[in-house]
Amino acid sequence: MMKTLARDLSALGYGSRREVMRLFRDGRVTDAAGAPLDEDDTPPRETVRVDGEPLDPPAGMVLMLNKPAGFVCSTKDPGRLINQLLPPRFPSRKVPVSPVGRLDKDTTGLLLLTDDGQLLHRIVSPRRKVGKIYEATLANPLRGDEIEVFASGTLMLRSEDAPLAPARLEPLGGRHVRVTLWEGRYHQLRRMFAALGNHVESLHRTTIGGLTLGDLPSGQWRPLDPEDVALVFVETSLQPTTDKSI
Ligand code: URA
Repeated sequence: MMKTLARDLSALGYGSRREVMRLFRDGRVTDAAGAPLDEDDTPPRETVRVDGEPLDPPAGMVLMLNKPAGFVCSTKDPGRLINQLLPPRFPSRKVPVSPVGRLDKDTTGLLLLTDDGQLLHRIVSPRRKVGKIYEATLANPLRGDEIEVFASGTLMLRSEDAPLAPARLEPLGGRHVRVTLWEGRYHQLRRMFAALGNHVESLHRTTIGGLTLGDLPSGQWRPLDPEDVALVFVETSLQPTTDKSI
C-alpha cells in the first residue's frame, strides 16, 4: 500500500503536486484493467499504471545499466550522459539516482545506480574485497610479465604515491585479456597497461562481486532484486577463476 497515490507519484518524479493532479484529472493514472484511479487511492503499487506503464521502482532501488561507449557517468558534463538512458523522471525523484562509482566515457558494461546513499557507501567501501571484472582488447600482444606485475602489489602509476593493490590478469587469447581489480583509481586499467607499454583499445566491465551483466542489451537497464544486490557483496579471490562463463 502507498501513502497516497498523488504523493507517491510526485516523490517518484512524475511531476509537481499540481502536475500529478493533472495526470489524475486526465485519467492517465489507472489500475491494471485501465480504470482511472483517484489521487487519494492507496492501491497496491504493482497494480498502478501511468499511461499504461507500471510505476518506476520505489525509493531504495538499485539498478544495473549496460553502459554503451560514448556516455559520461555524470549529471552535468557536456555531451551524452548516462541519465539520457534512464527514465527522464529519475533526476527529479525525491532522492535522485546516482551511479555507484564510474566508468570512463569509452568503457562499456556493468554500471550500478542507486538512490540509497548507505548502500552506495557499502558498495564502494575500500574495506570490501569485492572484485570488479573487466575484459579488454589491447593494441599490442602481451609481453609476458603482465600477470606477475599486476599480481605483485608493487606496480606504481605515474604521479601516485602508493602502489596498486594486487590485480589478476587472465589472457583470453590474442590481444584479449580479463582483469580483476579490487580498487578503482582514475582510468586505472588504461594506466596499468600504459605503464607496461601497451594501450587499451576497448574496455568492458562484466562483473561486480558475484553479479554479472548477463544478456542485458547495451543501453538497457533493469532494477535489481534483493538477491541480485546480495551478489554485489560476494568477495572475489585473487586466484584465477575456472568458470569460463564470466
Ligand atoms: N579502468 C579504466 O581505465 N577505466 C574504467 O572505466 C574502469 C577501469
